Amino acid sequence: MIEVLLAGGCGFIGSHLADRLCRRNDVSRIVVVDNLWTGRIENLSAIDDIRVEFVRADVEHFKSDTQFDEIYHLASPASPPWYMAQPLRTISANVLGAMNLLGMLKPGGVICYTSTSEVYGDPLVNPQPESYRGSVDCTGPRSSYDESKRCVEAMLFGASNVHGTRVKVARLFNVYGPRTRPDDGRAVSNFITQALRGEPLTVYGDGSQSRSWGHIDDIVDGLERYFWSDGTDYSGPLNIGNDREISVLEVAQFINASFPGSPIVFLPPVPQDPTNRRPDLTLCNQVLPGWKCQIPYEEGVLRSVDWFRREMRL
Ligand SMILES: NC(=O)c1ccc[n+]([C@@H]2O[C@H](COP(=O)([O-])OP(=O)(O)OC[C@H]3O[C@@H](n4cnc5c(N)ncnc54)[C@H](O)[C@@H]3O)[C@@H](O)[C@H]2O)c1
Repeated sequence: MIEVLLAGGCGFIGSHLADRLCRRNDVSRIVVVDNLWTGRIENLSAIDDIRVEFVRADVEHFKSDTQFDEIYHLASPASPPWYMAQPLRTISANVLGAMNLLGMLKPGGVICYTSTSEVYGDPLVNPQPESYRGSVDCTGPRSSYDESKRCVEAMLFGASNVHGTRVKVARLFNVYGPRTRPDDGRAVSNFITQALRGEPLTVYGDGSQSRSWGHIDDIVDGLERYFWSDGTDYSGPLNIGNDREISVLEVAQFINASFPGSPIVFLPPVPQDPTNRRPDLTLCNQVLPGWKCQIPYEEGVLRSVDWFRREMRL
């Protein structure tokens, strides 16, 4: 039986991964480490499983006598307003967190990391394959996030190449769905919460910037397959996301049409907001044959609205 450490397990994606880990019968213990910065303990409320232990701690300072068989490092904010407000804390969570977690990995164990499409920066190629090295400004407003993700990738691939450490690095594209904080600050959740409050939908810039939104259920299916259920030892990096590219304005218009009463207003563009984002899934199709995002954003958005309505008690 194996022991698992899940850092960031009270967050949006981490809590869904915790649900999936609880379905396994080869796991004896799941230690969730989270400091509740952007995550919420309520995200684990659906779990009733004596194997799960919650420890409120910073991932970079957490200590344990256990050497874990599997470590999942998701402890980092993913939303620009949150990570931009605390750049040093963001770097610490990712980089020092990964360093600390590597020291708790059992020999032969595997450490899995959720990297991001942000490693491609404002990409000059579209779609973005894993081989694209990115266009990132290390002095820019998003750099605490982009560069710490790149640094952790360097750390993990260095450990793999030089010391033979088993690593798995997934590069996630934009994810949305239930358990996103209502005050998360990204486009889909902003539009939904604004529409539910009857407020204007705020589009930054002209809205032509594109994203590839993957519904959480699809993305966690992909992570589950990559991280444990398919038995692959591919170390990555592996793009996991929806390759249907949608402009921010199109999403706003869809929500506006679904919930009339919230006009679209345009605000100044966010500095260095990437103009496009779309995963090249060629490699993903080889590593995870048959996996792709199944839920169209129109359906996923409407499903998410029901959750946000309950969450906001509207
Ligand atoms: N949501 C996305 O669209 C997306 C896209 C690409 C990559 N990712 C990556 O996936 C992971 C999870 O993202 P998410 O959307 O669930 O974000 P989230 O903010 O909802 O979850 C992050 C969790 O980590 C915790 N955390 C942050 N710093 C910590 C620290 N120092 N010590 C302990 N816990 C800490 C937070 O409290 C939270 O529970 C992140 O690594 C993120 O970079 C997310």
